[in-house]
Amino acid sequence: MPLELVQGDIAAQTTCAVVTAANKELMGGGGVDGVIHRAAGPELLRAIRPLGGTPTGTAVITPAFGLSRQGVKHVIHAVGPIWRGGQSGEAELLAGAYRHSLRLALEQGCGSVAFPSISTGVYGYPVEKAAPVALSAIAAVLAEHPELTVRVVLYDVGNFHMFERAWARLEGGKI
Ligand code: APR
Repeated sequence: MPLELVQGDIAAQTTCAVVTAANKELMGGGGVDGVIHRAAGPELLRAIRPLGGTPTGTAVITPAFGLSRQGVKHVIHAVGPIWRGGQSGEAELLAGAYRHSLRLALEQGCGSVAFPSISTGVYGYPVEKAAPVALSAIAAVLAEHPELTVRVVLYDVGNFHMFERAWARLEGGKI
């Protein structure tokens, strides 16, 4: 299946679309969002602010501005849930953020998309719980769209191994 797990920096990717972990107000932020906005330049914020926000579990798409220098065409601003203990629909909202992002990429004819691990930073979603949700959502879309390549970019080695283990369990049919 065309899914790649890599350890690295989301802003260094050369995929057609790159996903950032945004907030529902689309106001720009720190973490992944800060890295993406710095790489894309101030036009990115000017492009999303007028949209006025997007609900948790959804995403919006804009041009990639400065990131186009490395071949990226679109930035997808995905809003994951804030972790509230797991009983507030977090898993479905997280899966929705991945699914909606992939739908937007496919609508633009993108063949490759890079994701960070949405919600597992400031939003506090435990990575061992987020990884199987993220990978199941991606795998379901890939099953329908084998032409697509999805790369999940994990910044730190611990998260990378967590995703690797979740992927092995998913492939083994244990999720
Ligand atoms: N490349 C890839 N992953 C990264 C990078 C990077 N350069 N920097 C950090 N990460 C990882 C973090 O380790 C974390 O696991 O991205 C994951 C997501 O972290 P956040 O960026 O904090 O995203 P999230 O938890 O979804 O919180 C979103 O943070 O910046 C604000 O405006 C944003 O309010 C929103 C909230």
